[in-house]
Amino acid sequence: MDVIKVAILGFGTVGEGVYRTIQTHGDELQATLGKRVEVASILVRNKQKSRDIREEVLVTTDFEEILQFPQLDIVFEAIVEKEPTFTYLKQAIQKGCHIITANKEMFAHHGEELLKLAEEHHVSVGFEATVAGGIPVIQTLGQLLKINRVQYIQGILNGTSNFILTEMREKKLSFQEALTQAQENGYAEADPTNDVEGFDAFYKSMILSRIAFGEQPNWQEVEREGITSITSELIETAELAGLRFKHVASIHKAGDNLTAIVKPVVVGKEHPFYHVEGVENAVNVHSDIVGRITLQGPGAGMFPTASAMIEDLVYVCQTNSSGPRPEKSGTATISDKNNETKQQWLIHGHVKNYIHPSITWLEQINETTFIVEATKRDVDQLNQQEQSLRYFTILGEYEPIKKPVKVL
Ligand SMILES: NC(=O)c1ccc[n+]([C@@H]2O[C@H](COP(=O)([O-])OP(=O)(O)OC[C@H]3O[C@@H](n4cnc5c(N)ncnc54)[C@H](OP(=O)(O)O)[C@@H]3O)[C@@H](O)[C@H]2O)c1
Repeated sequence: MDVIKVAILGFGTVGEGVYRTIQTHGDELQATLGKRVEVASILVRNKQKSRDIREEVLVTTDFEEILQFPQLDIVFEAIVEKEPTFTYLKQAIQKGCHIITANKEMFAHHGEELLKLAEEHHVSVGFEATVAGGIPVIQTLGQLLKINRVQYIQGILNGTSNFILTEMREKKLSFQEALTQAQENGYAEADPTNDVEGFDAFYKSMILSRIAFGEQPNWQEVEREGITSITSELIETAELAGLRFKHVASIHKAGDNLTAIVKPVVVGKEHPFYHVEGVENAVNVHSDIVGRITLQGPGAGMFPTASAMIEDLVYVCQTNSSGPRPEKSGTATISDKNNETKQQWLIHGHVKNYIHPSITWLEQINETTFIVEATKRDVDQLNQQEQSLRYFTILGEYEPIKKPVKVL
């Protein structure tokens, strides 16, 4: 067979990007794979929309028509929601097709089942585009995991939230104004809940967790918070302390304990996330041999996402494995950072009582903003006593800019 025949499910931002890239990079694909790649069929919801698709390509609303095609080698999936997507992809695998998906919500829920089914049917699954768009984080982790043991991962995984936080800081906008900007620029949906409440970053972090640690934490126990409660005032006070708000997903393993947290944090100047602005994404992977690796780049968009899917096309054609699937491991060597280790925090609000023996008050930024060193447990206790306080983890070392707190 000299031709690889593919179907694309969905012809929105991502599906169209894949279609166009196959046209523009046909020569490179043929040179790499030794075969021509041809889009045979495209699945859409509304056939009446006018689209720039070659006449010979079957455009249909009926997935059965796609499955019945005489030759079908690879199915690209760029639809939305878990169903009917999961069902379609199962059917494609059962028919013997490799699958390549961009759908993180579906893959976070059903990835394991698809990978297992693919293994049974000797086909491969590409899912690079489900996390951090164009950044090759899945393949990098797969490569690293051959010998390195991943200790923890941190990621700015949602470009919309990062764009909103950047606009709020740079243009002194309210959350609502920055969200409207994001919607006008096409970065946020009409219903932005998935992005701004942290669900999207949560799904991506669960996919990363499975790759890096071979398992996911109990979803109910993951602390998930979006950016809707971040005010202009908070952003300004963080800036006074030389810190920037970022929405970060962190996954780490201590002994057998796998923890994930998805929430706003503040980062210092020397942390690689400090300069990750706008719709960019970034991922920090800490492993025992190599140390820290930071990957940064476009987290979404037509061509960055198509890039990840086209690289997956080469990957699935050249391997018989269904993606990186490390065994569940209990070998991480770091201590439990969340509760027992002292870390630095930005605290905002009116503190009534500074006498907390285990909290070190490092610096007072203004009347209502402090930098402290404490364990998570200590800060939680403080918060129980003084519920109006807000506190945020500082990633990276805090560089003091003012005199120590006078009250001490
Ligand atoms: N946009 C990004 O930058 C990006 C990045 C990474 C991952 N993703 C993921 O990629 C997927 C697609 O995103 P997108 O931005 O391309 O979405 P989109 O622009 O809304 O396009 C969705 C496409 O899927 C089609 N579709 C939806 N439901 C369908 C159904 N039940 N049956 C058949 N076709 C259906 C739509 O058909 P009609 O055109 O007929 O309405 C449309 O062509 C999502 O899972 C998203 O999370 C997106």
